[in-house]
Amino acid sequence: MIQHQTIIILDFGGQYNQLIARRVRECGVYCEVKPYTTSLDTLKSLQPIGFIFTGGPNSVYLDDAPQIDHAIFQLGVPILGICYGCQLIAHSLGGQVTSAQTDIAREYGKTTTYFDPNCKLFHGLPSNSITWMSHGDYMAQVPEGFFMTAHTDVCPTAAIANECRGFYGVQFHPEVNHTEHGTEIIHNFLYKICGAVGDWTMEDYLNTSIVSIRETVGNGKVLLALSGGVDSSVCAALLAEAIGKQLTCVFVDHGLMRKNEGDEVETAFRKWSINFVRVNAEKRFLSKLSGVEEPEYKRKIIGEEFIRVFEEEARKIGQVNFLAQGTIYPDVIESGTGDAAVIKSHHNVGGLPDCVDFQEIIEPLRPLFKDEVRLLGRALGLPEYLVTRQPFPGPGLAIRVIGSLTKEKLDILREADAIYRDEIAAAALTQNIHQYFAVLTNTRSVGVMGDGRTYDYTLALRAVTTSDFMTADWARIPYEVLERISSKIINEVKGINRIVYDITSKPPATIEWE
Ligand code: XMP
Repeated sequence: MIQHQTIIILDFGGQYNQLIARRVRECGVYCEVKPYTTSLDTLKSLQPIGFIFTGGPNSVYLDDAPQIDHAIFQLGVPILGICYGCQLIAHSLGGQVTSAQTDIAREYGKTTTYFDPNCKLFHGLPSNSITWMSHGDYMAQVPEGFFMTAHTDVCPTAAIANECRGFYGVQFHPEVNHTEHGTEIIHNFLYKICGAVGDWTMEDYLNTSIVSIRETVGNGKVLLALSGGVDSSVCAALLAEAIGKQLTCVFVDHGLMRKNEGDEVETAFRKWSINFVRVNAEKRFLSKLSGVEEPEYKRKIIGEEFIRVFEEEARKIGQVNFLAQGTIYPDVIESGTGDAAVIKSHHNVGGLPDCVDFQEIIEPLRPLFKDEVRLLGRALGLPEYLVTRQPFPGPGLAIRVIGSLTKEKLDILREADAIYRDEIAAAALTQNIHQYFAVLTNTRSVGVMGDGRTYDYTLALRAVTTSDFMTADWARIPYEVLERISSKIINEVKGINRIVYDITSKPPATIEWE
């Protein structure tokens, strides 16, 4: 078990909880998000150096509001409460929290806030700056032993502190970017109040996880399904570094990859002495998909076939002790919301096969956020094109060729998509657009090239900006860049004579077309 100084973020249902965790990690301190119902014994076993109570949608004074075991205040561990978390500290320790009846003390949005510079939490901050407020309740009376350490023009209790006991509360949200000195406030809490030393760096994580993987695996064999995506690639590289030949990566090339992708993945992993199995299964996948038009059906076939190929390879390898997966922390936090309607059944290479015999699953990236996974990939020497990859769906180009698939259509799409991606990179737009790709529609139209008539496919270009891929806006690519892409594709890719740009956001559309 890897031991780092740990901050526990107790989740009371706020919107920004993941953001708090990311800010803490960015400050070089490890943290975990736990539900507020987690037992005190479990929390204690993690030996936290501090707690952060998050915001939440409730009012602390209502009967059914989330509460906290009061014994947490006796642990001698510093606590920072944010919004609801702040009110909860006040309420639990004898203060009075009430609904703001008028505009007095009810605040929403950017708010000028005045800080007490003597409070450790606000050390080094200017005497006033902008914070982000979002609260309808306020602390009418602070508990005994607490001082008011920040105020706004309408609220006298924008922050409270009992410095002797290490308890701090802020009504505003230091974790959001709108709060001008938010990161400094979190940094002060971690370093000046909790005594953090900053032992969470990717180099450190790399070294300690190599030791821990070696301990867990012993002489055993590990199998990993490598998709070429960021998570599975970094997972493979980490395991390769830790256990070399004991690792077998099975890379199922389903023939639905982008141009040169299969070779790039293989080349990247040659530097390690591991067992690398590339299964060229293009024919097998294309024959299963032949004549299939319905997107969900395509996805099901690919998901199923993928598992079958993987299982066959696993059986050839023989007795496998561990199956490795590239699960990352947002997958862990976000799992468990099972009520949403199925829009698309996502196929992830990590899907567990039924009949591979293994004892245990190992997930070496489980505590990491995506940007930390990328940092780790760099620390391991993975090439930049693998580390900074945009998301690529498991079913690959099968869901970017609309309607039934043929190898010819896939090849046309591969060429066009490669030109599109090169031109976006040449225009230095890769940082501003979060996902961009070409789609081969099943519409053919008449064109004229040279002196002849053409009757070829229409290609759609898709590019979106998004923070979470749950919602997205279409990217405003400059016309001159679109023009360059269009003429280059039409001139260089046989089979396409018309190009359209998708200007639909998500919702109502989705990012992929199928
Ligand atoms: P949609 O099209 O649902 O896509 O708006 C949201 C994001 O998910 C990616 N995507 C997938 N990723 N397996 C994956 O691992 C899949 O089956 C899959 N389908 C869509 C899509 O590229 C976008 O980033």
